[in-house]
Amino acid sequence: MCGIAGYIGKDGAKDFLINALKRLEYRGYDSAGIAVVEKGNEVRCVKKVGRIKELEDNIKNEKWGETVGIAHTRWATHGIPSEKNAHPHSDCDSNIYLVHNGIIENYKSLKADLERAGHIFKSNTDTEVLAHLVEKHFAGNLEEAVLNALKEVEGAYALAVIAREDPDKLVVAKKSSPLVLGFSEGETFIASDPSALVGFTDRVIYMDDGELGVITTDDYKIISIENNSEVNKKPNVIELDLSDIQKNGFEYFLLKEIFECPEVIKNSTRGRMIIEEGLAKLGGLEVLDQKRLRDIERIIIIGCGSASYAAMVGEYMLEEYAGIPVEVELGSEFRYRKPIIDERTAVLVVSQSGETADSLASLMEAKRKGALTLGIVNVVGSTVARETEAGVYNHAGPEIAVASTKAFISQIVVLALITVYMGRMRGMSMIMGKRILEEISNLPKLVEDVLQDSENIRTLAKKYSAYENFLYLGRKYNCPIAYEGALKIKEISYIHAEGYAGGEMKHGPIAMIDENFPCVFIAPKDSVYEKMCSNMEEVKARGGKIIAITTKGNEDLNDIVSDTIYIPKTLEMLTPVLACIPLYLFAAYVGIERGLDIDKPRNLAKSVTVE
Ligand code: AGP
Repeated sequence: MCGIAGYIGKDGAKDFLINALKRLEYRGYDSAGIAVVEKGNEVRCVKKVGRIKELEDNIKNEKWGETVGIAHTRWATHGIPSEKNAHPHSDCDSNIYLVHNGIIENYKSLKADLERAGHIFKSNTDTEVLAHLVEKHFAGNLEEAVLNALKEVEGAYALAVIAREDPDKLVVAKKSSPLVLGFSEGETFIASDPSALVGFTDRVIYMDDGELGVITTDDYKIISIENNSEVNKKPNVIELDLSDIQKNGFEYFLLKEIFECPEVIKNSTRGRMIIEEGLAKLGGLEVLDQKRLRDIERIIIIGCGSASYAAMVGEYMLEEYAGIPVEVELGSEFRYRKPIIDERTAVLVVSQSGETADSLASLMEAKRKGALTLGIVNVVGSTVARETEAGVYNHAGPEIAVASTKAFISQIVVLALITVYMGRMRGMSMIMGKRILEEISNLPKLVEDVLQDSENIRTLAKKYSAYENFLYLGRKYNCPIAYEGALKIKEISYIHAEGYAGGEMKHGPIAMIDENFPCVFIAPKDSVYEKMCSNMEEVKARGGKIIAITTKGNEDLNDIVSDTIYIPKTLEMLTPVLACIPLYLFAAYVGIERGLDIDKPRNLAKSVTVE
């Protein structure tokens, strides 16, 4: 969601901060700002609505003090996108400057108290309350003021604060929203996402909830906000390659990430399959007492958006091949339920970013109730990864495009590995385990085959890009893929699309079908193929146009459908991986046809860290 960055060192604040904001652009934003302490202790602050480039152009010729600064990309929650609502926010005397990612839940009562005490507010944001709260407690020492201010605050925050009257330090604090510190010789960087540090350092500390950091040019200290005790944390070296976050010759990150999928599947499975023994090897689960895993009687898989659809595919897999009862819950719903959970329930959170507020809140609810908490996460060191007892990293690499594609493919593959891992503890035979793992090892090649068809899919995208409605239909393993395909074309090209279970079409949606309402059928030759053929006949009889995704070599549909996209044959449980690729390419090319920014769709954020 919002992105924050900070710098303290010899010089170079402005350059690092602007570069960091550019690295954080993918998270989605509507305004940005920067504040740097000038030599002589004046603070320069510039804020702009719109793209980072506009902010950069506004200050590129400025000669600023370069020792300490903060910056922010804002995705509006409280208060419309405007310069006055953009961060950094300051206090009445322009002494305290602060950037924040999260939500201050009790900001209204705090603001009323501060206004009664004479504070004058300039914005409509919850964040500005923090700046005035720090001002209220400021007596010359910035960290003491921030510490005391946070004791009055309820909500989520990752924040960075500087002060004109205490200029040689950067104070940071974290609760629920992510924050990472990066260390280099004579300078320290902070960011809400490690990708902002790539090329500057690989030595990082991930802040944990309830911690406050005091950073000076040549030292740092981390304190517990609760009891003011010092927390001993040393930097770790992480592998983040700059090329991972470049486009590698593609016009868009989205296309790069779709075409990366064969490599992503290899990375997600590398070292995790003992095919000859039909065993999955998942170090992140082996840390657990295996008896505890074996005693699990049901699994609740939690996710939001695409992650919830991956969870639905996992539900079919685990039930069919591991014999475990599974239910899928939306993060935004589970947190408000009264779930029946005990120590024999595993709660598995699927999240690319590992920072989605609704999924995190559900995770904390599950922890409170004693569930075994597991995660499938792409961002190393993210909150879900640190708050779960065990889990599996996707190793899909940084996913920059807001619409998730390669991470989703990785989530399906990791769920298949977990199915083998859990299944082989239960009734799954070595033969079946071997069969599944062999098919998984074939997937990169099969995905390459589908990608070879990209020009045909681009032609289809041109043919269908003017339609304003689509119905996506699938059954069993590909019912969630109908949801995913519809979500992708919605979020990338803003076209209205509904994903539906094939069997549900006759219960209403078919009333919408005519020649202006094309249907996309995900209909590989699997156990429900015949049923999908009946649905296609129903659509054709009403003049509906059909795009079918079916198994290579299947010629049965030629008289029924308008267009066909072929995918290679594989195990039914793995067809979602292959079916997604044409759906992703179709959505991307339709978005391009419509002249849209398919990497950063309007109104969307890469990681929804607010509720
Ligand atoms: C996917 O294309 C969307 N951008 C969105 O639905 C996303 O999947 C959802 O917000 C969950 O994000 P997470 O995987 O980082 O938790």
